[in-house]
Amino acid sequence: MDTIQSRVEELLAQMTPAEKAGQLTQYFYFRLPAGVDAEPALGVDVDEQPRMVESVLQQGGAGSLLFVTDPAEINRLQRLAVDGNRLGIPLLFGFDVIHGLRTILPVPIAMAASWDPETIERGQSVAAREARAVGIHWAFAPMVDIARDPRWGRIIEGAGEDPYLGAAVAVAQVRGFQGAGPGAPDRIIAGPKHFAGYGGAVGGRDYDEANLSDFELWNTYLPPFKAAIDAGAGNVMTAYMDLNGIPATGNRWLFTEVLREAWGFDGFVVSDANAVRNLLTHGFAADLTDAGARAVNAGVDMEMAISDAAYAHLPEALESGAASPPAVDASVRRVLEAKIRMGLFDAPYVDEDRAREVLADPAHRDVARIAAERSAVLLRNEGDLLPLDAGSLRSIAVIGPLAAAKRDTLGPWVFDFDLDETVTVLDGIRAKVGERGRVDHAHGIRVTQRVYPSMFDMFGGNRPEDPDGFDEEAGFRQAVELARGADVAVVVAGEWQNMIGEAASRSSLELPGRQLELLRAVVATGTPVVLLVMNGRPLDLRWPAEHVPAILDIWYPGTRGGDAVANLLFGAVSPGGKLPFTWPRTVGQVPMVYAHTRSHEPENQGRRYWDEASTPLFPFGHGLSYGRFEYAGLTVDQTAVAADGTVTASVEVTNTADREADEVVQLYLHQRYGSSSRPVRELKGFRRITLAAGESRTVRFPIGPDERRYWNTAVRDWVADPSTFDVWVGGDSTAQLSTTFEVTETRPSSRPGTEP
Ligand code: NOJ
Repeated sequence: MDTIQSRVEELLAQMTPAEKAGQLTQYFYFRLPAGVDAEPALGVDVDEQPRMVESVLQQGGAGSLLFVTDPAEINRLQRLAVDGNRLGIPLLFGFDVIHGLRTILPVPIAMAASWDPETIERGQSVAAREARAVGIHWAFAPMVDIARDPRWGRIIEGAGEDPYLGAAVAVAQVRGFQGAGPGAPDRIIAGPKHFAGYGGAVGGRDYDEANLSDFELWNTYLPPFKAAIDAGAGNVMTAYMDLNGIPATGNRWLFTEVLREAWGFDGFVVSDANAVRNLLTHGFAADLTDAGARAVNAGVDMEMAISDAAYAHLPEALESGAASPPAVDASVRRVLEAKIRMGLFDAPYVDEDRAREVLADPAHRDVARIAAERSAVLLRNEGDLLPLDAGSLRSIAVIGPLAAAKRDTLGPWVFDFDLDETVTVLDGIRAKVGERGRVDHAHGIRVTQRVYPSMFDMFGGNRPEDPDGFDEEAGFRQAVELARGADVAVVVAGEWQNMIGEAASRSSLELPGRQLELLRAVVATGTPVVLLVMNGRPLDLRWPAEHVPAILDIWYPGTRGGDAVANLLFGAVSPGGKLPFTWPRTVGQVPMVYAHTRSHEPENQGRRYWDEASTPLFPFGHGLSYGRFEYAGLTVDQTAVAADGTVTASVEVTNTADREADEVVQLYLHQRYGSSSRPVRELKGFRRITLAAGESRTVRFPIGPDERRYWNTAVRDWVADPSTFDVWVGGDSTAQLSTTFEVTETRPSSRPGTEP
């Protein structure tokens, strides 16, 4: 037995059932601004809730807290816990470190759009460093849920529609958070979530059930989780909804058979907030004791609760035999092991002075700016309107409420940001242009409010506001006149940040409010227009895609977003991001993915609707740059291989433009025939490269058994068929340059999964 295990066993042997239950319970600890009525959203009195938690800590009744980010508070609460616990077991502090703590990075979908694992890893290592410095040990991230329906607001938290890209992004995030593993200095535990299928919410309605076939689960939704586990993630979070009729949080198959037995996960599992209690809401558990017993028996080690934890009833459930004693002990072991690995028994408290220094580190802001530059996607650039020449422009009109909205520039799921140092698009352009020209801003139209308010509005500052005394009719006219008199108009449009994220699903993808009307009026002035889209999901841009010459997707770019945008607009850097999802024309097309299977009348694939093309507005993987990339000489090193063989594809990429730029070289694969129908093409390799003016590079991609294997629903197993394979390489999922190779025989496949 190693020292960690013996320490765990020594503690476990002394623990009463109530103490075990306590270690398996995590509570929110809220400190909301005075006067906030959180009761409707949280179901608790927010003055009473922290008192309840403190009294539980004094009795040794909790193992973890979430939502505390002030190091002095963390130390105070830790002291209560250590003193209150008979065995001196410290608390683990968790938090939603989704895209930064103080330094806010671009939102996760944006980071995925960089197609750059290094940038993603570096970004999350900064987030981890700041979080660890304040005393947080564990991030409820990355969210690795595949999202194929952009009505679902949480599409912003993931890597989009594709399992291959999703897996690569998941791995980069786990590495960024954890470094060499749980316990590494300046790093925190990563918790991929929400296991599993949460992104499949029916109708894109957050929290609603997901009904996913084996084909979708194994081939699409589970691979990013498997990749995150293989990368060593120390935690996994459950999902809220029913997966195929069984609440995910009570699903033993998911947590025990797949996660632990088949994949060898050895970290701990936490429920989503209140998800164990929800086993009652689902009509699954009879009462709280039953709910706790079912979750722990399923393999859910820790319950995340606001109040009235179901796991507080575990002693009764053990007594009655409903909860399995070995399951409870196994869960306690995992939680204690995580605490020991994080060094908590030796150093439970945090250095408050050091926390201040780390949070102020200017190097972190640079990482955020570079990430924002690398995430932006140039959707359209007719007549090479971009980059703008700062030297020759006398006046720039910056238009729209989002152009100057600090809070929105940061995006959702952040709480500890510093608004004073947040750089909006307007600030960034002003700083870049300096004395060389005029930069004026017009708010133009009223901000749009949600029909049903966001639960995040209670945190303050999350609900957008107009400037005092704003008159919309006069403001609209003033914006149009400003554009008319300017050399170029930069319109910023999209969704306000409280319109996307958790509990932020939509029935439409249109630009909210009068934004399109304003954009049309600005375009009608004849002044060249650049549209900057601030978003976390595809929006209906059918009109702009025909009438606005330049469209740059800047997402919610974070603390230094405006500086990044200015660098992109004026050509200090070239955009190089690519779409991590298929961009539909209209909401009626969703879900729409590039990796669909071929069926009857494939030649009519673009005419499945009689009223609108059934092709995307922008394909998966699309993104332009200030370079020009030519692809040539696609070859494979072998034209036939055995089932376990690897083919290497190579292609020559040349930047024929007169400036340096980045390209994401993408490889797609298609199996022509076999024991199932296979998607028309699937991403199986990508590399982001920088090429100088006129530079050529040969890029190679291995295509081995892992790239060809898939879950076959007829035999309920992983298979690798002998077949002819088509390979395409290019700058998006419509790449035309192709070649083929054969796989000539089948050998038994390895079995990374388990039967559903
Ligand atoms: C609910 C969300 O679904 C989850 O992603 C988050 O980590 C928890 N709340 C904690 O805030």
